[in-house]
Amino acid sequence: MTLAAVIPDWTSPNQERARKLLDAYPERRSAVMPLLYLAQLEHGHLTDSGMTQVAELTGLTPAQVQAVASFYTMYKRDHVGKYLISVCTSISCFLMGSDEVLTAVEEESDALDGTTSADGTFSVEHVECIGACGGAPAVQVNYELIEGVTPEKGKALCQWLRDAAPEVVLTDEMQELFGGVRSFDWGSKEAEGAVAPVPAFGPYGSAKREGRS
Ligand code: FES
Repeated sequence: MTLAAVIPDWTSPNQERARKLLDAYPERRSAVMPLLYLAQLEHGHLTDSGMTQVAELTGLTPAQVQAVASFYTMYKRDHVGKYLISVCTSISCFLMGSDEVLTAVEEESDALDGTTSADGTFSVEHVECIGACGGAPAVQVNYELIEGVTPEKGKALCQWLRDAAPEVVLTDEMQELFGGVRSFDWGSKEAEGAVAPVPAFGPYGSAKREGRS
């Protein structure tokens, strides 16, 4: 069966990406993770049919593909809101009050942990350590990091996202507006931010588009 016959509903560029990924590995099954990201990009989240397609592309069983998809939290099995707010609740952040931050974010976003708000603006999730323990409690918006977030700042962050509705979220900007103590000096401002809650293979924003240089 040809690749196009397995993923006829994928866009031509993503069919081509899939072809290149499969060619890049001596074993087709090694391409399972990037192919899952592509399937997620195609459908907005990982659908059952998307995972079945990846299984057919890689020669794995659907159960094996589902096992990979369910292990990693960045693969989303349901629709994700415009802004995915991830609150770290691992030990350093927990000790610095992340549970209160999570509650404040849940209240202001109208989305409980693990759900999406009715208007589709927010998805909220608690996550394990995101490597910013020195700046605990740490929060991400569409995987853009903010450190030193308080419950009040968490609420203000949600209000800002709702009202300003930025197309691109930039970690430096959010840190300045809603962050506290950072783990270290991050250095020069980032050039690009995130334009979508679904990671990898998606388009990235540009500082120039936001009038930053
Ligand atoms: S424990 Fe939260 S970033 Fe490490």
